[in-house]
Amino acid sequence: MSPRCFVIGHPIAHSRSPLIHGEWLRQYRLAGSYERVDVAPADLPAFIRQLRDGAFTGGNVTVPHKEAVMALVDEVSPAGRAIGAVNTLWREDGRIVADNSDVPGFLAHLDACVPGWQRQVGTVLVLGAGGAARGICYGLRSRGVERILIVNRSPARAEELAAALGNPLEARAWEERDRLVRKADLIVNTTALGMQGKPPLELDLSGLRPGTIVDDIVYAPLKTALLAEAERRGGRLVDGLGMLLHQAAPGFARWFGVTPEVTPALRALIEADILKT
Ligand SMILES: NC(=O)c1ccc[n+]([C@@H]2O[C@H](COP(=O)([O-])OP(=O)(O)OC[C@H]3O[C@@H](n4cnc5c(N)ncnc54)[C@H](OP(=O)(O)O)[C@@H]3O)[C@@H](O)[C@H]2O)c1
Repeated sequence: MSPRCFVIGHPIAHSRSPLIHGEWLRQYRLAGSYERVDVAPADLPAFIRQLRDGAFTGGNVTVPHKEAVMALVDEVSPAGRAIGAVNTLWREDGRIVADNSDVPGFLAHLDACVPGWQRQVGTVLVLGAGGAARGICYGLRSRGVERILIVNRSPARAEELAAALGNPLEARAWEERDRLVRKADLIVNTTALGMQGKPPLELDLSGLRPGTIVDDIVYAPLKTALLAEAERRGGRLVDGLGMLLHQAAPGFARWFGVTPEVTPALRALIEADILKT
C-alpha cells in the first residue's frame, strides 16, 4: 500500500504543508498522499488511534496539538522532550514516534544561507520565547553557540526558557533589545511581530554591525520590515520561508523513503501561494 500521510490542526485550511509534500511527491514520482485533516482537540486521541491502527503512515501536527499529542504517542525524541512540542509523527515497529523538525529546519536553512556561520557567531540575540524560540534555542545550543540572549515581552517566559535549556541561554529585559543589537553576531526574530496582520516589530538596527546575520522566521510577508532594514544596513539575511520548507524534509524522508531537496522551484511555488493571500 502506498504511504498515506496527513497534517492535522484546528483550524488547518491555511496549512501550506500539502502544497510542499504534494510537489515533492510529483517531483520524485512517488505513489502516496498527503492530506489536510481538521482535528478538534477532543478528537485527537481518536485520530491517533487511527494512526496506530494503520490508517496512516505518519504526518505533521500543528497548532493546537503540538504539545498535547506528546502524551498520546509511544516515544518522543530527546529534542521533542527538551522543547516540549513535536510536529512530526511516524510508525516504527507498531509504535508511534514523535519528533520536532523545526530544529533541523531552522538549522538547515541557516546552513544553506550562511555556510560555516558558527565560525562568525559568538553571541545570538533571540527575540521571543514562545514555541518556535524553544526549538531554535535548542538547535543553536546543539551547535555549540557561546551565548544566547533571549528577550521577550513577558519576561517570565524568557526566564523560564533560559532555566529550562540552561547554559548558554540568558534572559534579558525586552527593553534592552536595541542595545543588545550591537553585541549580536546573529539576531533571530521568533515573535509573531512583523507578520501580516500583526503589529510591526520595533527594533532599532542603528547599532547593527555590517555582516551580522539577521534571521526572521516570519514568512508572510516574504521580506519582512526587519529583513529590509537589515539589508539596508549590510546585514546577511535569512528568511522564514526557507525554514518552513526545510522543516518539511525530515518527515517526507521518513514516510516516503526519499530525502527531498529544497529547490528554487519549490520555493517559487510556495512564494506564489503566499503572494496570493
Ligand atoms: N518559518 C517557520 O517555519 C516557522 C515555524 C514556526 C513558527 N513560525 C512563526 O513564528 C512566530 C511565533 O510562533 P510560535 O509558535 O513561537 O508562537 P507563540 O508560542 O505563540 O509565541 C509568540 C511569541 O511572539 C511574542 N509576541 C506576540 N505578540 C507580541 C507583541 N504584540 N509584542 C511583543 N511580543 C509579542 C510572544 O511574546 P509573549 O510571550 O510576551 O506573549 C511570544 O514570544 C509566528 O509568526 C509563526 O508563524 C515560523
